Amino acid sequence: MKPREFAPGIFTVGYIDWDRRLFDSLIPLPDGTSYNSYLIKGSEKTALIDTVDRLVPQSLLDNLTSLGIERIDYVIANHAEPDHSGALPQVTARYPEAKIVCTERCKGMLIDLFGLAAEKFKTVNDRETISLGNRTLEFIHAPWVHWPETMLTYLKEDKILFPCDFFGSHLATTDLYVTDEGQVYEAAKRYYAEIMMPFRTTIQNNLQKIQGYEFKIIAPSHGPMHKKPDFILKAYHSWAYDEPSNIVVLPFVSMHGSTGKMVDYLVGALAQRGVAVKQFDMSVADIGKLAIALVDAGTIVIGTPTVLAGPHPAAVYAAVLANALRPKAKFASVIGSYGWGGKAVETIASLIPNLKVEIIPPVLCKGQPRETDYQALEKLAETIAQKHKESGFK
Ligand code: FEO
Repeated sequence: MKPREFAPGIFTVGYIDWDRRLFDSLIPLPDGTSYNSYLIKGSEKTALIDTVDRLVPQSLLDNLTSLGIERIDYVIANHAEPDHSGALPQVTARYPEAKIVCTERCKGMLIDLFGLAAEKFKTVNDRETISLGNRTLEFIHAPWVHWPETMLTYLKEDKILFPCDFFGSHLATTDLYVTDEGQVYEAAKRYYAEIMMPFRTTIQNNLQKIQGYEFKIIAPSHGPMHKKPDFILKAYHSWAYDEPSNIVVLPFVSMHGSTGKMVDYLVGALAQRGVAVKQFDMSVADIGKLAIALVDAGTIVIGTPTVLAGPHPAAVYAAVLANALRPKAKFASVIGSYGWGGKAVETIASLIPNLKVEIIPPVLCKGQPRETDYQALEKLAETIAQKHKESGFK
């Protein structure tokens, strides 16, 4: 993608990765992504905000060449992760006068990642500013968005926030700004769920920290920019602060159909009681969709057969993922079947210590579910519905 000037002297110089389908070797990217990098020309100095992924450094160098950039004074590294810092070695080699501006912790991480020389860095404190002449950059430390070293950069005169991952979305598009809010909402929620949700409390702190600022544009380092910042600010506020919803998220796997029958029954019993269910067959599920659903879940129920004396590995994956993502669900349970015994429930329960949930008694059946098992599932549905009601989940 060629550079585009979206404000006088401010250009997008990043890369749109239309074909990337997996991030961190974990997160499905159905719509690709982008590594946004921004060039800001001041009357005296020039700054580059973030770089691009380590796989595509030449794209950034080519864009800087096409703009005729002969000097860069500051390369702002909001975040050390290599999808944004990956071209630092090449950029600082071409522009040896450039200082890498980052937090002290980020400096250590970038030295570890790329072996960059310590003298190339200028570390900045929270709220410190750097003048570009007629423009001023302010650095707002924002730890755990989503690594401990992160900061945001605010271009004061233009009222543009460059928050790197914060408010970003994995979405490849030629749109400079959000046009399809529904599409961006889902992509941004997927991103929030998979990297921000585990740090929800610090996300709340960081949302509070930027409350006094006025934003004309929020320009993240993935996905389109926000010309209507309220859209994404409200979405983040809701994901981070709202109580869980009247929703059960039910990741499951079934080998010979018994657990599948239990899932079908429980889903019907919950729906009859007005509880929404989002079920995910773990043998085919997009775990990004599962993560999105977990943002709002009131209860998580894991469905698993017993195999080799324990839960099915695909169900274990769901439990480990939920434990890592730390959603705000308040209740959890397990359903499933077994042939001759095992410790499926104990194992699943031991895998979710991070979840602050009350465990509702599980329902396990031997072989195919029978009438007594369906009665137990009816009771489980009633208990969940009751607990959601008492908790005020909407
Ligand atoms: Fe987009 Fe945390 O890197």
